[in-house]
Amino acid sequence: MRVLTAIQPSGAIHIGNYFGAIKPMLELQESNELFLFIANYHALTSGTDAEVLKENSIDAAITFLSLGIDPNKTTFWTQSHVKEVLELYWILSSYTPMGLLERAHSYKDKVAKGISANHALFSYPVLMAADILLYDAQIVPVGKDQIQHVEITRDIAQKFNNDHGDIFTLPKFKVDENLATVPGIDGAKMSKSYKNTIDLFQSEKKLKKQVGKIVSDSTPIEEPKEYENCNIFALCKLFLDDNGIEELKARYKRGGEGHGHFKMYLKDIMIEHFAKASEKRAYYMDNKKDVQEILEEGAKKAKLIASEKMKIIRDAVGII
Ligand code: ADP
Ligand code: TRP
Repeated sequence: MRVLTAIQPSGAIHIGNYFGAIKPMLELQESNELFLFIANYHALTSGTDAEVLKENSIDAAITFLSLGIDPNKTTFWTQSHVKEVLELYWILSSYTPMGLLERAHSYKDKVAKGISANHALFSYPVLMAADILLYDAQIVPVGKDQIQHVEITRDIAQKFNNDHGDIFTLPKFKVDENLATVPGIDGAKMSKSYKNTIDLFQSEKKLKKQVGKIVSDSTPIEEPKEYENCNIFALCKLFLDDNGIEELKARYKRGGEGHGHFKMYLKDIMIEHFAKASEKRAYYMDNKKDVQEILEEGAKKAKLIASEKMKIIRDAVGII
């Protein structure tokens, strides 16, 4: 199966992103043809400062490579390195009824929050459609908030195919219903926008500080503790196998340890879990040229497909 997805470069990655998006990607790359890119054109719609966007784009690439995206298995590139996507975006715009975009939840939500609407924010789903259709992606793994964008992609593709024959593959979205939502330090969904994250790559001191802020009840040290509704337990569980979970439950039930101990345990298992990735990350941070080369190689592979596809599309619509 050809699976395609993208991430917006938006700064530090937290453990919600890791378990909700990155880990499933690592699994997908083992048994599919995975196409993955850094959506830096999309990121422009959030009005990031130029230097920050540049830094975040390379940082996102480093994060993915450190965590196990393998450029020998996955085609991995930066969106802006394959310009064909912008040409397709324009062509598809003529096959996109205004009403389709006016109904987009993501756009409407942003406007409702008071973000002043511009054309890029409005036409964002058309660029996403171009991303997907240019590479004939069959499956598009996304978070729930992006399902409608894949549906819009199908509508646009269908309209185009009705006029010109079977040119585009109709993609299907993939949402993993079994994936639990990772709670933040306050128990609500972990999210950058709620400022309740625990970030993957940071110094032990900062990690200790974030973990220390996890909200827990105030059962005295010597008494047994509840693990069912405990945020610390829920977070530890993500990193543990069945045995580890049972052992931790036993520690909660036994009493004699406070939530502070469990917080430090979470910090330690996180450090252990991401030790290799942190090492790799440190290497890439010092060798950004390697990262740029990997992305350029990926862009070459993507461009080969994109330029062939564009010839067919241009011919179909009459662009000489
Ligand atoms: P944030 O809410 O921090 O801005 P994003 O919206 O950028 O995170 O999410 C990027 C990816 O990570 C999406 O695929 C999303 O589904 C996943 N993700 C984010 N937060 C969580 C969470 N708390 N639990 C599970 N998955 C999450
Ligand atoms: N809009 C997606 C997000 O914010 C990122 C994205 C851009 C994407 N192009 C894509 C995802 C193509 C899947 C396929 O998460």
